[in-house]
Amino acid sequence: MQHKLAIIGFGYMGPMHYDIISKNVPDIQVKGVHDIRQVILDKAAAAGLYTYQDLTELLSDDEIDIITLATPNDTHRDLAITCLRAGKNVVCEKPVCMSTTELSDVMSVAEETGKLFSIHHNRRWDPDYCTVKKVLQEGTIGRPLFVESRISAETRGQYGWRGYAINGGGVLLDWGIHLLDQLLDLIEEPVLSVAAHIFSQHTPDADDTVKIFMRHENNISTLCELAWSTFIKPPRWRVNGEHGTLQLDSPVDPSGWQLIQADFSDETKQVESIVYTKRGPETRTCVFPSTASRPLPLPQVSVSWADYYRNIVDAIEGKEAPRVTAAQAMRVLRVIEEARWSNEHGGAARACHI
Ligand SMILES: NC(=O)c1ccc[n+]([C@@H]2O[C@H](COP(=O)([O-])OP(=O)(O)OC[C@H]3O[C@@H](n4cnc5c(N)ncnc54)[C@H](O)[C@@H]3O)[C@@H](O)[C@H]2O)c1
Repeated sequence: MQHKLAIIGFGYMGPMHYDIISKNVPDIQVKGVHDIRQVILDKAAAAGLYTYQDLTELLSDDEIDIITLATPNDTHRDLAITCLRAGKNVVCEKPVCMSTTELSDVMSVAEETGKLFSIHHNRRWDPDYCTVKKVLQEGTIGRPLFVESRISAETRGQYGWRGYAINGGGVLLDWGIHLLDQLLDLIEEPVLSVAAHIFSQHTPDADDTVKIFMRHENNISTLCELAWSTFIKPPRWRVNGEHGTLQLDSPVDPSGWQLIQADFSDETKQVESIVYTKRGPETRTCVFPSTASRPLPLPQVSVSWADYYRNIVDAIEGKEAPRVTAAQAMRVLRVIEEARWSNEHGGAARACHI
């Protein structure tokens, strides 16, 4: 069966959905576009797409069974509810909503209508993220202790609607939502506390530099850093495991990706050292485990953002569970709300279970 899809919002991201689907997912045909700007509808028409002048016309098109929302963040809640109520399956751009309250409203309607509601967390199919996930799954570096995920830019601040709180602007809901979604997908253990420092360095009405530190069950920590206005790039990923280290410098260039495994030989090193006891200094023999290590090749991954839509097709047809669910997006929004609480309380962290 071929599904017919319409895109609402055809600015920057809308055309990317069209491109990805039309080149890679034959089970979906992008039929048309709705946007509130005529200039954008003209662009869509020039690309050969049907243009819906208003939302009512789109919702009453019985051929359309999937709607993708690629509009600014403050519109997602209302548009998702309207489309679900019209009997459409909905793919919503990230951030799913601006708050957990908004998302609860959408989840109730999705449950009531029985329609699919999923979030376009395409970065779960990024090669760098999938490499980190595979290394952890293969156990090469053992249990992770610290996982650090960073994204940086030299840009000063957030531009356009991304600079305004009323539109759901700010780097936390923009890039932070991707990085947190990846971390929560990677580490299954629940988050037990969130500490954060959030700056509005160059964007008066929205955040543009953020650091979030999460403690998870099972003694694992994760860090998410969004460093705008930074002029020396930190590594995109760094994982310290019980038996090794993984570091991916660039998100896209694998030439600087390194995987080092500790060498498990029984070899030990003995060193004479002074220890200050109650009786005074004593010379003792300290035994250190081997510090040898070996670089390993990184596992190969073959992923594409189109895999997201392939899963959407299978989920609608009941062949597979949806990979990105509203419940997962709710966890991410709960972390963001804990981070905001922490920032307002001087970086304090309160107990939670997310
Ligand atoms: N997943 C990703 O990798 C990724 C990347 C970029 C943007 N996004 C997300 O995509 C969404 C859109 O971002 P963008 O950069 O394309 O923004 P944009 O401003 O370039 O485009 C948004 C479009 O939506 C239209 N629009 C606004 N309100 C509307 C409404 N009520 N009904 C119909 N059309 C409306 C605008 O006219 C505009 O053409 C955001 O939620 C953003 O976070 C996701």
